[in-house]
Amino acid sequence: MSGKGNGTTPLIEVRNITKYFGSVIALNGVSMAVRAGEVMCLLGDNGAGKSTLIKTLSGVHQQSEGQYLVEGQEVHFDSPRDALDHGIATVYQDLAMIPLLSISRNFFMGSEPTKGRGLFKRFDVKFANRVAKEEMAKMGIDIRDPSQPVGTLSGGERQSVAIARAVYFGAKVLILDEPTAALGVKQAGTVLRYIAQARARNLGVIFITHNPHHAYAVGDKFTILKRGRTFGTFTEDELSREEMVRMMSGVDELDALSHELQEFERTDKLQGEGMMSEVDHALAKSLEESEHLFDPKKDNEHPAQ
Ligand SMILES: Nc1ncnc2c1ncn2[C@@H]1O[C@H](COP(=O)(O)OP(=O)(O)O)[C@@H](O)[C@H]1O
Ligand SMILES: [Mg+2]
Repeated sequence: MSGKGNGTTPLIEVRNITKYFGSVIALNGVSMAVRAGEVMCLLGDNGAGKSTLIKTLSGVHQQSEGQYLVEGQEVHFDSPRDALDHGIATVYQDLAMIPLLSISRNFFMGSEPTKGRGLFKRFDVKFANRVAKEEMAKMGIDIRDPSQPVGTLSGGERQSVAIARAVYFGAKVLILDEPTAALGVKQAGTVLRYIAQARARNLGVIFITHNPHHAYAVGDKFTILKRGRTFGTFTEDELSREEMVRMMSGVDELDALSHELQEFERTDKLQGEGMMSEVDHALAKSLEESEHLFDPKKDNEHPAQ
């Protein structure tokens, strides 16, 4: 099958997983699946279990009960390295990057290309710079000088370095834990466009957010977590924007949103050439309003801009 991959074996799937931290049940019977060329948005309030779920998927935690399958095969990951070896790459909120090192050094961190042998073996700067520049260009970012410190990039651009790196090193599944939470409107838009790019390159993407507007701009499917349980997985047709917000938040927020919701025009499936401009369009209409409704500081310590 082509297109969104319905009917194909999921890249990753969990069945009825639970996760206990002592007596705390962080996940309580969660099932979900992600296929190639699909953006699955994982939604839910703080403490819902989003991070615990993706840490389980990425080998940081092991589930207490339930099954985890990668391309139909049951797996047991002991470490994030195991998950990475299966093509599951996770980009965390606090990116593991060294600000003073160059973009290309950060791009190749842990897998440095070398030239020469023995005592003369050294980091292949030329190769690293060329690849980093090329890979970023594929994501639509023009890095003039890949040897500039990564700390000189904006937050959105740094996210894009992490995403481009994961794609280059063969990720099949990209997991993003609230990549847009600490970003301003424009930079959040940048990151959302990379998510659409990754999907266009047939990756499966799990995009965690507690911002339904960000989710709606790029999501194909939506899994909602609340206090460790799922409400299930929905397509855009099955879950209206109002329902999504109601499931995620309280009545007060819903009231505040209702006016905006009426004005919001849903864009259709974002595909092909029109993809980027439609993402831009959806964001322009939606994001400005959304940033203050869902306080991005709730879930992490970074400042909002
Ligand atoms: N390492 C841990 N030890 C104990 N409790 C944890 C740990 N990680 C998460 N929790 C608890 O599990 C629940 C879900 O947390 P989390 O997955 O971080 O939620 P979210 O990412 O959706 O905000 C919360 O009650 C949290 O306190
Ligand atoms: Mg979290």
